[in-house]
Amino acid sequence: MSVAEKAPSPPLFFFSSSVFLLTLSLLASPSTSDTDSFVFGGCSQLKYLPGSPYENGVNSILTSFVNNAMLAAYNNFTVPAGTTSADTIYGLFQCRGDLDQSTCSRCVARAVSQLGTLCAGACGGALQLDSCFVKYDNSTFLGVEDKTVVIKKCGPGSDGYDSDALARRDAVLGYVGASDGDGGAYKFYRDGSSGDVRGIAQCVQDLSPGECQDCLAEAIGQLKSNCGAARWADMFLAKCYVRYTEGSDHSHGGHDTNDDSEIEKTLAILIGLIAGVTLVIVFLSFLGKVCDTAKEGK
Ligand SMILES: *[C@@H]1O[C@H](CO)[C@@H](O)[C@H](O)[C@H]1NC(C)=O
Ligand SMILES: *[C@@H]1O[C@H](CO)[C@@H](O)[C@H](O)[C@H]1NC(C)=O
Repeated sequence: MSVAEKAPSPPLFFFSSSVFLLTLSLLASPSTSDTDSFVFGGCSQLKYLPGSPYENGVNSILTSFVNNAMLAAYNNFTVPAGTTSADTIYGLFQCRGDLDQSTCSRCVARAVSQLGTLCAGACGGALQLDSCFVKYDNSTFLGVEDKTVVIKKCGPGSDGYDSDALARRDAVLGYVGASDGDGGAYKFYRDGSSGDVRGIAQCVQDLSPGECQDCLAEAIGQLKSNCGAARWADMFLAKCYVRYTEGSDHSHGGHDTNDDSEIEKTLAILIGLIAGVTLVIVFLSFLGKVCDTAKEGK
């Protein structure tokens, strides 16, 4: 009963760089806490030598993530991974913008431990949980905009065409995708709701505000064109994401909705069983009547 089996697409991705190819099969351990749900993970196909300076570099950058996430919701790191200056590992972590520091640091610790397992020995790796994102690699990705679609999930469509729901969704997407107009510091994380539609959007903070806007516009466009009138949807690009859900009992993301569809399935099976039993009873009593009639006929 793994969440991954029910997901419409496998939550692993290929690095956009052509030298990197993903070789790992599906991993998605059902998570204990909803906010730390696994969204996707991916590793480079290139491996480093065990015991090499590169391995020390990876361990050092992952340790920095965990330590620094106790103090900040985002940071980037550059560590040496060999003797030449070309051997360098870059990395960053980022928490969802609405979390307190302790939730953030717990998420990053969890993500790092999952990444260590998922990408053991890999030169690069990235992992997204509901509440945080971690990534390291030896190619320069810090500060580089990347609008590659990493994972998209569309929930089931609304029952019938609901123009009000669609209007609420568009309003929410418009709100979370708008550049800030209030003159304050640029916000890399936004959330908003309209009626029972709730949306969130976030960019990795190594982007400039302009790049963030561009990335979000792409994600929202992809979301609308791919997911139509879906009741919930997730669109994760390499450097930003947008998610929305309709209905008060859903947090962001598909897992709750999967639970809902589980309940629906169970209900359908129950109703099917009851209908079946009823049919058998009706049939038996009909048979009984036929037999009685047959006996009386003799
Ligand atoms: C990353 O590290 C691997 C293994 O050491 C190496 O083969 C590759 O060329 C490196 N890539 C970059 C961009 O430095
Ligand atoms: C990386 O972090 C430093 C501070 O630790 C910051 O000054 C710099 O702007 C960051 N770079 C990117 C690309 O986010």
